[in-house]
Amino acid sequence: MNLKPETLQQIDEVITHYPQKRSATLPLLHLIQEDVGYLPPATTEWVAAKLEIEPINVYEVITFYPMFRQQPIGRRHIRVCRTLSCALTGGYKTCETLKQEFKTGLNEISPDGEVTIEFVECLASCGTGPVVMVDDELHEKVDCAKAKLIAAQIKAEAKQS
Ligand code: FES
Repeated sequence: MNLKPETLQQIDEVITHYPQKRSATLPLLHLIQEDVGYLPPATTEWVAAKLEIEPINVYEVITFYPMFRQQPIGRRHIRVCRTLSCALTGGYKTCETLKQEFKTGLNEISPDGEVTIEFVECLASCGTGPVVMVDDELHEKVDCAKAKLIAAQIKAEAKQS
């Protein structure tokens, strides 16, 4: 596994918080995903060896939780809420607008490599829908016009980097 030194340090530290190493499975997977952007195939064996458990125990966790990704994503991760409150306030249109702006489908890397758009369950801001998360940043009341602004901002930031 090609992890940053600080991630490796955090991993070793997190393991010490648990009386049983195996209990650190979830936090380790989160740390790896934060570092790499997804969980590459080598993750299963690597985490299993680190925690002295069987690879199948790690694999079960990876495949059980939808927040773990087994494929790479674009540089920015856009999540659009599709649950009831957001759906009623226009979440589907918001999602379509973002897909059009980046010429991409759901769960794909856009052709410019910039984003991956996911349509997800409740993002816990139901009173201010439609809700969109860009990486860790929450955007509220994202109608189509606001979705276009968000897309323009992401594209502008991509040009600067
Ligand atoms: S329904 Fe969209 S944030 Fe809860």
